[in-house]
Amino acid sequence: MSDCPSLETLTAQGLGWVDRETGSIVPPLYPSTNFERNPDLSFNDNRVYTRADNPTYRQASALLARLESGCGAQLFSSGMAAVVALFQALRPGDHVILPESLYFGVRKWVLNYTSLQAEFVPNEDLDALRRALRPGVTRLVWIETPSNPMWCVTDIAAAAEIAHQAGALVAVDNTVPTPVLTRPLELGADIVMHAGTKYLNGHGDVLLGALVARENNELWTAIHEIAHDGGALPGTFETWLLLRGMRTLFVRMERICASAMAIAQHFHGHPKLVSVLYPGLPDCAGHDVAARQMIGGFGGMLSIRVRGGREGAVRVQAGTKIFKRATSFGGTDSLIEHRASYEPPDSPVPPDLLRLSIGLESVSDLIADLEQALESA
Ligand SMILES: Cc1ncc(COP(=O)(O)O)c(C=O)c1O
Repeated sequence: MSDCPSLETLTAQGLGWVDRETGSIVPPLYPSTNFERNPDLSFNDNRVYTRADNPTYRQASALLARLESGCGAQLFSSGMAAVVALFQALRPGDHVILPESLYFGVRKWVLNYTSLQAEFVPNEDLDALRRALRPGVTRLVWIETPSNPMWCVTDIAAAAEIAHQAGALVAVDNTVPTPVLTRPLELGADIVMHAGTKYLNGHGDVLLGALVARENNELWTAIHEIAHDGGALPGTFETWLLLRGMRTLFVRMERICASAMAIAQHFHGHPKLVSVLYPGLPDCAGHDVAARQMIGGFGGMLSIRVRGGREGAVRVQAGTKIFKRATSFGGTDSLIEHRASYEPPDSPVPPDLLRLSIGLESVSDLIADLEQALESA
């Protein structure tokens, strides 16, 4: 491999690693939970027990760290396990700021299972962030952009500058854009979180999470210890599947972004819809920031708000034939979901909203499917 290959090349080749023992290009899977110790009590390459390290983890985490320009990546058994580890690494009572629109599981966990002081601010309002920050007291600002499922956009570079001035760290949930479209650490964030369950794996058959850090510091050490001591780690087969999926990440994201944009443009102003929420549309509030911050596309997630309120939305999702009615996102199959009925009762998601995850099917089939579902509703 050349000295400075592009991220596309590195990703397609899984960093270009070749197994030293066999010459295999596809990496071997190491299901072993333990590794033999030397008679002098030393360990080989620090390999002791799979909860501490497993050779299968190394290639996937090294690739993710490289893609995110981080000093390292820690894999977890799910996206939520990664979120939990980060918040557990803070101190009880620490002040944290989160956006009002975000993956509901994060809000639920922080409010119900931590003793952090959590404050929520509108995603796009940097003045509100400035006002909420308590210099020397706020420990972490959590960003999710574009946010699920309203697709609000936060200016990561500006938010990081404001947060750092007040002494707070910045963590970004980069699940939706993936490092193909946004690299938060290069924009000043300190930690990136991924639900690898979604686009990184890309095939809807793995549950996995990750944190990536910009710097190897006290917080990063604490996160590693929580991962090791708590043991919320992925299985080796899941990790192997993650790496296999990541090899096609760039090409999948290119296709998905193009299809999502075509769908958003087609349905923008549709008489059966109240609105289309997609940062690629110029009339979306966060469009200008997204256009600056996102590289080469606006992602594969959008939402439509249907005329006729909840009942109208329920009828539309009932009528799709190609879009499958299912939660999650980032796989090959396009999905449609009535989000408010999935989230807890305090969810701010409007009842007329349907979330769409765009997959790899023909975009004209997807448009025709939504058209017929809107028509028959
Ligand atoms: C934006 C976002 N972050 C985090 C998560 C949590 O990931 P996981 O389901 O792998 O725990 C999800 C799950 O849907 C998500 O949508």
